[in-house]
Amino acid sequence: MISRGEGWVFNRNLEHLSGRFFTSVLAPALVLTPEFATVTTDRWTKLRICAPKGPTEAHEELLAAFVAQFEGCGLAETDTHEGREWQLYFEEGEIPPEAPQLLQNRAREAGLAPFRDITTETVERENWHDGWRQYFKPVQVSRRIWVAPPWETESIHKVADTVVLVIEPGMAFGTGTHATTQLCLSLLETVDLAGRSVLDVGTGSGILAIACIKLGAKDVVGVDNDPDVEENFGDNLRLNSVGIDQAELQVKSEWDETAGPFDVIVCNMLSREFLPLLPKFPDVLARNGVLVLSGFLKEEQPEVESAVKVAGFETVHHSDNLEWAGLVARRRHG
Ligand SMILES: C[S@@+](CC[C@H](N)C(=O)[O-])C[C@H]1O[C@@H](n2cnc3c(N)ncnc32)[C@H](O)[C@@H]1O
Repeated sequence: MISRGEGWVFNRNLEHLSGRFFTSVLAPALVLTPEFATVTTDRWTKLRICAPKGPTEAHEELLAAFVAQFEGCGLAETDTHEGREWQLYFEEGEIPPEAPQLLQNRAREAGLAPFRDITTETVERENWHDGWRQYFKPVQVSRRIWVAPPWETESIHKVADTVVLVIEPGMAFGTGTHATTQLCLSLLETVDLAGRSVLDVGTGSGILAIACIKLGAKDVVGVDNDPDVEENFGDNLRLNSVGIDQAELQVKSEWDETAGPFDVIVCNMLSREFLPLLPKFPDVLARNGVLVLSGFLKEEQPEVESAVKVAGFETVHHSDNLEWAGLVARRRHG
């Protein structure tokens, strides 16, 4: 049985393996599928797959189907200087030896560019732990903010105002590896949070809530409709020495009942999740309050900005990261 706190990330969304779990905003960079729990082998086959240049969504769909077909046990995604790379793990003997060619054929049949490179390798069980851990390295997400797993905090070169968010890779979304989380963190750094109260809608691992406290916020209420985030949220508060008097978690779907008004709302969720909530944000936000919003695609920006305007906000700044966009808006008077 694999326990948390060892660098493993579970994603129960993978119970629906046919879904778009690579690109889904709910997927972290590292995922173990439900098949992993039933595995008894000590040897694994690892497929290392280098993406072609350009958009990768269709290739990811293809790989998702492949993992589902051969009951893959884990997968990781990393962005390297050469481009995106995936590592897929299968019980030894589960995939045919010609798997690399099979994948290239499927890409060709789907009218896609070939993968740049596909290699296979056998991995021994005892190397797994370190193998998975190696994907969680400290990441500098903005001038001041770094995100690091607990075993890597010492390797960061810190200057006076560096903020290190120590995040235990866990079940909740928000290991800091996802572009939207990074975007949200870099936008938060542009906001004056000193002494402010913050509502973090869709808090997940609590990474944004913790960032707000470390950037000077007075207190944060993190809201999530998923009760499974609770343990990871608590672990991360402890790792960052953030008290429960500073960052409180409320698990509920009727988040708008949350007492306010808050000075700042931060929200990193898919557009289909936050758009219905937007009109309620002004009710819990102080006059002149600030909204930091991310989780939507660049192509959704016009729709999101107009919804933000209709909800009573004026966009003051926007930014993007890969295919994702984010914005900072201020509540209009009146
Ligand atoms: C993309 S994750 C963001 C996690 C973290 N804040 C981050 O930035 O990495 C979105 C989170 O929003 C939560 N969520 C989705 N819909 C919600 C809703 N209507 N109310 C509250 N939380 C919601 C999900 O459970 C998930 O934890």
